[in-house]
Amino acid sequence: MRSNEIYYCEPVYRPPSEAYSLLIQATEGCTYRCTFCVSNTGKKFKVRATEDIKRDLDTALRIYGEEVNKLFFLDGNAMVMPFEQLLEITKYAKELFPNLRRASVYAHAKDILEKSEEELRALSEAGLKMAYIGIETGNNDLLQKIRKRQTADDIVNAFHKCFKTGITPSGTIILGLAGKDKALSEKHMKDTAELVNRASPTNVIKEGSIPPWYISCLALMIPPGTPVYKDTQEGTFIPMDSEEILHEMKILLENISDEVKNCIFRSNHASNYLALQGILSRDRDKLLAQVNESLQHGTNIRPEMFRGL
Ligand SMILES: C[S@@+](CC[C@H](N)C(=O)[O-])C[C@H]1O[C@@H](n2cnc3c(N)ncnc32)[C@H](O)[C@@H]1O
Ligand code: SF4
Repeated sequence: MRSNEIYYCEPVYRPPSEAYSLLIQATEGCTYRCTFCVSNTGKKFKVRATEDIKRDLDTALRIYGEEVNKLFFLDGNAMVMPFEQLLEITKYAKELFPNLRRASVYAHAKDILEKSEEELRALSEAGLKMAYIGIETGNNDLLQKIRKRQTADDIVNAFHKCFKTGITPSGTIILGLAGKDKALSEKHMKDTAELVNRASPTNVIKEGSIPPWYISCLALMIPPGTPVYKDTQEGTFIPMDSEEILHEMKILLENISDEVKNCIFRSNHASNYLALQGILSRDRDKLLAQVNESLQHGTNIRPEMFRGL
């Protein structure tokens, strides 16, 4: 008998901009073990069999019809899948859903660097148009501390490789990662702004139009079961409060260059204290004014109880 249920290995997470996308479990868990992340609390990493993924896509077609226009391949770093398999499921999805505008995945920077430009271009041509890349911070000491297993150079190179191959990169930065260490917090933000400046497509695309790309801020959550939770319980990590987090956002915005073009900045994830959206080169002053307003008057701050991952 044909199943009418799509398989999910719960809990699953997806970016806010994939809220209306078809979610298909391609991998389970993650191959990395970052200290703050729930993806490493319990799930054993697995790449699902191609036929199981295709069966879920068939089921989705029966449930939702051909109208599906966005698809997100779960889980924590589905870009790590072998190239041939990721290509096959992307092509299959495109065949089933002729209106599919894009398929997307979460990707660790190294998952992108480990694929060749030819492979990434083939994936993009097949329909894999977006990769959500965890930047977290541009500070190499902090990257090491959170066990991210990537350097600032890796992240910049991964962004450039995406621009060159037609995949839109969407990077996430975590405010509050340094905890109440003022000096490290300042380095976190200044080095992250510098990373954004270096990652800009204007550094690799010299002719033609500059593609849109995305940078989002999240604010550190402390999920039970993670190393950062244990450190917080033991008092070796002291989380920042909302004011300190907003101050970080201010330093970040102040240090991003006007040469960064076509970059959509957002802090619309539910972890944030302040939701912002704008194009950096056009709206930076407006965004900064909103941060300053919240810092001075406490306006628009999301209450702690409404924050989440
Ligand atoms: C599910 S992860 C997948 C990203 C991809 N695997 C990578 O690491 O590059 C999505 C993003 O959510 C954010 N995130 C995960 N845990 C978080 C936490 N405890 N607090 C705030 N943001 C978090 C990080 O920015 C992370 O890169
Ligand atoms: S942040 Fe990304 S790479 Fe790190 S454990 Fe989570 S899903 Fe994996």
